[in-house]
Amino acid sequence: MSPTIQTRRPGFVAEVTGIDLARDLDDQAAEAIADAIDHHGVVVVRDQRLSNEEQLAFADRFGPIETSVTRVRADYRQRIGLPQIVDVSNLDENGRPREMADRLRMLLLGNRLWHTDSSFRALNGALSMLLARSIPSEGGETEFSDNRAAFAALPAATRERIDGLRAEHSLMHSRSQLGFSDFSEEERRALPPVEHPLVRRSPDGRPALYIGSHASHVVGWPVPEGRMLLRDLLEHTTQPEFVYAHEWRVGDLVIWDNRCTLHRGRAYDESQPRDLRRVTTSDTTSLSVRDGLVERRETRRAEARSPALAAGI
Ligand code: OGA
Ligand code: MN
Repeated sequence: MSPTIQTRRPGFVAEVTGIDLARDLDDQAAEAIADAIDHHGVVVVRDQRLSNEEQLAFADRFGPIETSVTRVRADYRQRIGLPQIVDVSNLDENGRPREMADRLRMLLLGNRLWHTDSSFRALNGALSMLLARSIPSEGGETEFSDNRAAFAALPAATRERIDGLRAEHSLMHSRSQLGFSDFSEEERRALPPVEHPLVRRSPDGRPALYIGSHASHVVGWPVPEGRMLLRDLLEHTTQPEFVYAHEWRVGDLVIWDNRCTLHRGRAYDESQPRDLRRVTTSDTTSLSVRDGLVERRETRRAEARSPALAAGI
């Protein structure tokens, strides 16, 4: 069965209806959805009642699935035993709302800052797929920014100045903005800072800002200077004209490309359950991996083969 795909915001948000991803997904439908994700960056698939396993099986078609950062510590008590399912809910292992000062709740509070998933990892997040199983009566929207449109709207001189820069990203940086910094040595070792390009190309070639709360400063620049630039760019890309606020319905599976969008969760009454579950694929085509490792290795090889070739003569 072929799904219906409708554009909601051109080049940014599409909505998919008329398909049960657990039962009707053939190669053709998967390809149509993959194209919609590439083109739009945010795709809302309605009316999905997926089990954890079905959600994982769907995500598995799009790339290797990362293990949630909430599994770095063994002492978090969690409802869901599968390390590839990120429990984005407010519920503890007994299905009750977490206490205000609960450490995992504090960590997840960082989701309310504009961010892109797992940019604090060398193998950053590619696609995230967030499924709503239950939602509060109001609030709790998720907002997305279109970082391709925002890049295109920058003055030409700014686009030129920032293309080619790299930023350092770390989870410790994003959490310290909320005053949450009691990370263990084990966590710090497991999650060292990483570098990523500030501008990255989407599959369709359109450049996008790659920033967000984990981005701490610009590599090679004085920290305050780089931090100021990152703030300016964040303010730019989160202006209302580039933002879509998703109001959740139960059964929505929202898929976004972390390489060309930012997102943040909004507050809600946490005495009510908000049960959202996320699976994220790793960006194995990551420009950072290519820039940092493979490309350097290739250059060295080319130089060894032919100095003239390496010099581009
Ligand atoms: C996430 C996330 C925001 C929200 O799942 O990656 O940031 O609205 N969620 O829960
Ligand atoms: Mn997120």
